Amino acid sequence: MDKIVAFCKRRGFVYQSSEIYGGIRSSYDFGPLGVELKRNIKDEWWRSMVHAREDVVGIDTAIIMHPRVWEASGHVGCFNDMLVESRTSGKRYRADHLIEEATGRDDVEGLSAEELDEIIQNDERVKDPADGGRDFAPVRPFNLMFETHTGPVRSPESAAYLRPETAQGIFVNFKNVLQTTRVKVPFGIAQVGKSFRNEITPGNFIFRTREFEQMEMEFFVEPGTDEDWHEYWLEQRWNWYTNLGLDPENLRFYEHPKDKLSHYSKRTVDIEYDFPFRGWSELEGVANRTDFDLRQHAQFSGENLEYFDQATNGRYYPYVIEPAAGPDRIMLAVLVDAYNEEEVNGEQRTVLRLHPRLAPVKAAVFPLSKKEPVSTVARELYDEIKGDYRVFYDESGAIGRRYRRQDEAGTPFCVTVDFDTLNDKQVTIRDRDSMEQERVPMSEVRERLQKLISG
Ligand code: GAP
Repeated sequence: MDKIVAFCKRRGFVYQSSEIYGGIRSSYDFGPLGVELKRNIKDEWWRSMVHAREDVVGIDTAIIMHPRVWEASGHVGCFNDMLVESRTSGKRYRADHLIEEATGRDDVEGLSAEELDEIIQNDERVKDPADGGRDFAPVRPFNLMFETHTGPVRSPESAAYLRPETAQGIFVNFKNVLQTTRVKVPFGIAQVGKSFRNEITPGNFIFRTREFEQMEMEFFVEPGTDEDWHEYWLEQRWNWYTNLGLDPENLRFYEHPKDKLSHYSKRTVDIEYDFPFRGWSELEGVANRTDFDLRQHAQFSGENLEYFDQATNGRYYPYVIEPAAGPDRIMLAVLVDAYNEEEVNGEQRTVLRLHPRLAPVKAAVFPLSKKEPVSTVARELYDEIKGDYRVFYDESGAIGRRYRRQDEAGTPFCVTVDFDTLNDKQVTIRDRDSMEQERVPMSEVRERLQKLISG
């Protein structure tokens, strides 16, 4: 983890937020390479979930919604983690995390306050990490929603929440989408955006933060077909990760035990990644949310949110299959998976073997010499290809060093303009992974790169 954190800072992927003021826990900023990588992850998700499909449409809804939304969804009542406070240090911990870290147990998430209390009281290994004490107050639920106030008057009526998931913005617009588009069940509504949770113990870099992004899609299906659609989406989502180059050895499905499901779920299966610093951890949950949310919003809002099936002249509340992923966590998994240190001709090279579609910079253009006319030709080539995607122009330092800098940034292709280019109008394209070089006519570089990047 330390290596990845240092690497992310050094190469401009991720910075600690407000660093010049000493930083703020669990908040991060994405630097020039990080913003491109995360944007590419979100674009790839949008491409596969929306653009490449006839049965899914997109939406972008507000972060601050009517507070009743969160009563209807169950978040006001149920969106809690179990908190335990040490009486000696006054520090507060997420009870399941405290037990997991002290005992190595992986079966405590989702246990009730009483069950967690019993473990904490009886297992001597569970100690306050701050002072080693074992005097804990009873475990109690802690609501994770961030509360705020809207308008100039701070009163109970002006209270509002920052959304803890993007999904509810989709449910409350179900009727709008039905009425303004020609979608028919089965169909989905997708959204990418920020969510906020006042996590008791954020940590592991960008894995668990209080402000993060989600990529969620609610897929509405006829009741009775939900179990088959759930299997379908599990397969689709697995393939998305492996097609983007994540090693399948580092991925697995995790089936949530029936007695620990969220209040809305009939079945949830996570896609997990085997992070070297914390083991198997969730990248995405694929849940069967049944008709819980639509029914709740119908009841709380008084609107009829049933679907009218023209084929049968019948009405029903659709069931919902929800693949819900986090681009921040996926970015961390992608970085860990791609990071390699290796020896080449007696020299150490760090290389990020990112899928070309995810790579922040797709190509770098190098003139072998800073002088004209080689540099002018290289600039012209750079200008020709730079609008298609992020391209980097670099004329400083020995060519080997320039390659190394791009290897570290994960740039899949480097194009070098040399003295021969002036006569034969050809350039060299070097592949990041094999380090093989190929001579290509300059006029074909743009098309060639397009093909190589799209894979
Ligand atoms: N609508 C369902 C839902 O929100 P979730 O499993 O709580 O389900 C979905 O969240 C995804 O959002 C997670 O798999 C994870 O990738 C991401 N996520 C959730 N909490 C997060 C946090 N505190 N920091 C970073 N990502 C988070």
